[in-house]
Amino acid sequence: MEQDAFDLQANSDKIHCMSRPAIARINIGHLQHNYRLLSNLAGHASIMAIVKANAYGHGQNLVAPALLEAGCRSFGVTDATEGAELRSIPSFNQDHVEITLLSGIFDEEDAKLCVQHHLTPAATEPFQLSLLAKSGHRGKVWLKFDSGMNRLGAETPSELYAMAGETGIDIRGFMSHLACADEPDHPLNRIQAERFITICDQLSPNTPKSLLNSAGIIAMPQYAFDVVRPGIALYGAEPVPDRPVGLKPVMSLNGEVMQVRQIHTGASVSYGATFTADKTMDIAVVSMGYADGIPRSLSNIGDVHIRGQKYQMIGRICMDYTMVDVTGSGVRAGDSVEFWGEHISANQVAAEIDTISYTLFTGVGERVRRIAV
Ligand SMILES: Cc1ncc(COP(=O)(O)O)c(C=O)c1O
Repeated sequence: MEQDAFDLQANSDKIHCMSRPAIARINIGHLQHNYRLLSNLAGHASIMAIVKANAYGHGQNLVAPALLEAGCRSFGVTDATEGAELRSIPSFNQDHVEITLLSGIFDEEDAKLCVQHHLTPAATEPFQLSLLAKSGHRGKVWLKFDSGMNRLGAETPSELYAMAGETGIDIRGFMSHLACADEPDHPLNRIQAERFITICDQLSPNTPKSLLNSAGIIAMPQYAFDVVRPGIALYGAEPVPDRPVGLKPVMSLNGEVMQVRQIHTGASVSYGATFTADKTMDIAVVSMGYADGIPRSLSNIGDVHIRGQKYQMIGRICMDYTMVDVTGSGVRAGDSVEFWGEHISANQVAAEIDTISYTLFTGVGERVRRIAV
């Protein structure tokens, strides 16, 4: 029996080595550079690194320990399941590493997970505080207020604050979230900041405050308060593109040319025959498709980077493949292909299809191997 298990492991290692080239290279040096840069921009405020959704698709198990090594001691995830997963990383098994649940808790099970894994939930509703109290939560909570985004946040902060007092649960701080920080001149930014200050001052002026996400750290650092919460900037996408601050891209999404084929005038490419050659062309078939996270809407629009040059995608992107026009280039089977990373930024790709880098990163498929470099 033991022998079988061993063989299975050996076999799976072999299979892994030979597997399809679909790789997200995670540049740890760049991640740590971004962390340090943001720490400097944040001044006296400390950093809660947002690593929810598998560290924005980059791989929580690679990203979180690297941030810990760079000096970060506070991390934000979505819910108790993500929090428990993060706590299970060996270097995270220490109480002074704070894990905040930005979406708080949903039920009794979540409250128990908070106790068991020493998690710090955000609370927006009094029932969450009662559940935590009943479960014997001895950690703290963030109280999360709405200041004008009209997403998740307590509508009546005083009620939530009073409930925290009744249950005796310690308050870690007050938190709110900005709707328009990536548009520095948007009037809602100041309105939200001032509303947040008013709420906090009325409840407890000395309780720590946290308002800014990545774009906020760049656009309105005067509101950094005690804790800032960068997500996207850690991963190297400039959050305010016309105010770049020198962030470095962390993810390079790479496939490989599987075949180069010649097609002639009138031949079409891929499903739906949406591209037709008007001359003899060389097309490269690349080893990644929409199931890997290449948005299908890039079909006939997007570029890839191969051997120092950009090439255009042609025809519809398939589940496992993307076709590229490499006419007369000398591109060959085996060449590495970058979808986004060092040469084409995720922001550039996102702009082509009217989306944001967040959706590209979090859309990277589970079957893509994340490798730290
Ligand atoms: C409450 C909260 N804080 C911080 C962040 C990080 O935002 P960003 O990735 O824009 O820095 C998020 C992300 O959605 C969030 O929901």
